[in-house]
Amino acid sequence: MDNYKIRISGRKKLSGTITVSGAKNASLPELAATILTDSEVLLNGVPDVEDVNTMFNALESIGASGNFSDNKVNINFSNIKEPVVSETISKTSRSSILILGPLLARNGYARVSLPGGCAIGDRKIDFHLEGLERMGAEIKVEDGYILARSKRLKGADYTFPGVSVTGTENLIMASTLADGETILRNCAVEPEITDLITFLEAMGAEIMGKGSDTIRIKGKNILKGTSHTVIPDRIEMGTYVIAACLRGDNIVVKNCIPEYIGSLLTILESMGVEILINGDEISIKVPGQLKPVEVNTDPYPGFPTDLQAQLTTLLTQVDGISHIRENIFNNRFKHVIELNKMGANIAINGNIAEIKGVSDLKGTYLNATDLRASASLVLGALIAEGETYIDNAYQLFRGYEDMPGKLNKIGADISTMKV
Ligand code: EPZ
Repeated sequence: MDNYKIRISGRKKLSGTITVSGAKNASLPELAATILTDSEVLLNGVPDVEDVNTMFNALESIGASGNFSDNKVNINFSNIKEPVVSETISKTSRSSILILGPLLARNGYARVSLPGGCAIGDRKIDFHLEGLERMGAEIKVEDGYILARSKRLKGADYTFPGVSVTGTENLIMASTLADGETILRNCAVEPEITDLITFLEAMGAEIMGKGSDTIRIKGKNILKGTSHTVIPDRIEMGTYVIAACLRGDNIVVKNCIPEYIGSLLTILESMGVEILINGDEISIKVPGQLKPVEVNTDPYPGFPTDLQAQLTTLLTQVDGISHIRENIFNNRFKHVIELNKMGANIAINGNIAEIKGVSDLKGTYLNATDLRASASLVLGALIAEGETYIDNAYQLFRGYEDMPGKLNKIGADISTMKV
């Protein structure tokens, strides 16, 4: 795996339009869902990011043929060659767990390496396995692998003990080929799940309850090929809207669906930011000093944990004391140490970050610990005095398509070095 270092020269005036790419977290389950058919599938608007490349490589190792270029994936699972997801794949990207459900449903047997540890806290998969067992699967975990077997999954009535995005996606995909009807309750309702359901319906799946927390699926024998365009990435959207709040009001964020980041926009308005929406474009005005705020991360439509680190950077520039309570993951504050190296004044108490502003950030040497943390460091570097160097910048390229290029296009001064 190549790694990179990023150098950012701060305090450049930014102005222009940034276009949001397709959603990584919709592309990943939709790529896994192509296992559910033996016909050709075309996915448009797929972001060229590392996590998606890892998923595509995993599918090829299982038996897919096809290609991924110019944000288009053309893929065909006419047969399953090797129903295995290796350790190298699952250590690189945890979302390889999304292969388990569709592979078991299509092939009757799947051997998936347990997803690796994660910088943001426990990433358990007990709901995924419990739900598949409820559908009749025989599941064993040994030598770091999940071994799942089932002649044919059968419809079941399963209530998630807790809200899980990929848990919901895995079980919806598995149940599309089960015998009979499956009811899934207490499902996550993120837009990426709604987009996955739209995609599965286009493949011939029979699914009721799209957009709600109770999903009913009538199983089929096999799904058919189709073409689909992935929704825009709401986390990338929110990241660039926050960048606009930090670096000036001449930035237009394009290819947006504003309602996808409604919780962020509401928080920004409560801080005194003026939000301007014009179709799929979002721009902002910061008329005066922003006000501190109290924030909770919650499942959609609440404020997303994936924007917590980026908002933290903005709050370092707000006069007063703000708090963010991280309710989803138990260790998602690794960016705080790095921001404090720049001169931020953030204290952690349990799952609450207390951010005291205004801090005058200075460029320095930083380390990217995870995907969204790396984005918060880039945002900090854009407003810091002097040069910032970010090590382990591979993390950024896992989930943001060409962020340095997109920011340089509107006036930033960012260079990327392979190490
Ligand atoms: C998805 O992860 C996203 N990843 C994450 O985005 C996102 O942060 C997360 O949802 C929450 O919104 C993808 O969609 C590929 P969860 P996921 O299952 O599905 C607990 C990014 O930056 N839990 O909703 O792994 C779990 O420990 C990434 O793009 C169980 O206890 O998250 C966590 O505390 C980071 N048992 C909470 O639920 C389970 O079986 C939410 O996890 C599953 C989850």
